[in-house]
Amino acid sequence: MNPKNDLNLIADKLPEWLEESRKYTVLGRPASYIPELAYAPAEALGVTVMGADGTEITAGDCGLTFTMQSISKVFTLLLALMDHGEDGVFQKVGMEPTGDDFNSMLKLELVPPGIPFNPLINAGAIAISSLIHGVSPSDKLSRILAFFREVSGDPDLTYNEAVYASESAHAHRNRSLAYFLKDNHVLDGDVEEVLDLYFKHCSIEVTCRHLARMALVLALNGKDPVSGRELIPKRYVAIAKTFMITCGMYNASGEFAIKVGMPAKSGVAGGILALVPGRFGVGVIGPALNHKGNSTAGVHLLQTMSEAMDWSIF
Ligand code: DON
Repeated sequence: MNPKNDLNLIADKLPEWLEESRKYTVLGRPASYIPELAYAPAEALGVTVMGADGTEITAGDCGLTFTMQSISKVFTLLLALMDHGEDGVFQKVGMEPTGDDFNSMLKLELVPPGIPFNPLINAGAIAISSLIHGVSPSDKLSRILAFFREVSGDPDLTYNEAVYASESAHAHRNRSLAYFLKDNHVLDGDVEEVLDLYFKHCSIEVTCRHLARMALVLALNGKDPVSGRELIPKRYVAIAKTFMITCGMYNASGEFAIKVGMPAKSGVAGGILALVPGRFGVGVIGPALNHKGNSTAGVHLLQTMSEAMDWSIF
C-alpha cells in the first residue's frame, strides 16, 4: 500500500476506467423535478482523485460545473454539530436509514416521535438547516458558505442562482415536508426562511475537484490537507462518515457498501463525493441518474476503482 505506486496506477488506468463507465450513462437520465437540472449533459462523466499530499489526478469531464444538492447535507450536518454538539443535533434527527426514497414523508407520520430518521434525507437536512447559527438568514448563509469555502479550499465558492430559483419554484414536496416538521415541533423558526437556506446550500456550485478536496478533508479526519489545521473535530467527521456508509446513497446504500465499500454521498445533479480513509478524496460527476437518484456511470466508476485498488473499508 504505497501511496505513490497507487497514484501512478490510478493515473495510468483512470482514462480507461472512465471511458468504460461512461457507457453506463445511457442507463439513466438527468433529474428533471428541479427543471434547471435537466439541462445537464447526460453523457458526461468526470472524476478527480486527490491524494493525501494534495496530488490530483483527473479524467473525463472534470471541468463541468454542477450543484452539490444532497452532497451539501454532509457539510451542513457537520456545521450543525459544531454549532450544537451531538445532543442538540440528535434531538432533531435520528441515526437510522429509512429504506425509503430521499424525499419520502412516510415514516414522519408513521413512526413516533415524528423526527426525520437521519440528517441526509430531505426532511432531516431541512431540520438541520434550521439549526445553523446566525443572527439573520443572510448571516446563516454566510456561515455555510464560509465553512464550505474553507473545506473546499476555494474562497469563491457560491451558489448557482438559476438552480436555486428553479428548486424554490418547484419545491412542493420539500415545502410539505417542512410544514409537517413545523407542526411536529421539529423545525424551529420561520419555515420559508429555513427552506430558502436549504435550497441555497443545495445549489452550491462545484466541480469534481472541489468534491475531491472536501472528501479528502473527511478522509483526513477533519484536517486541512495543506496546513494540517483541524477544520472539523474528528468525532463529528466520524459521525458524518458513518451516515455516508448507512444513508449516503439513499436506499441504495447497502448495495453500494457491499459493491464499493467507501463512505460516499450522492446528489441529484449527478455528483458523488467518496473517500478512502487516510488516503484519498474522490469527486465524481455523471448527471445521468438511476431511479434511486444516484449517478449510473458514477457508481460504476467508483465500483471499478474500488475493486481495482482494493479500496473497500470492509
Ligand atoms: O431537496 C432536493 O430534492 C434536492 N435539493 C436534493 C436532493 C438530492 O440531491 C437527493 N440525492 N440524491
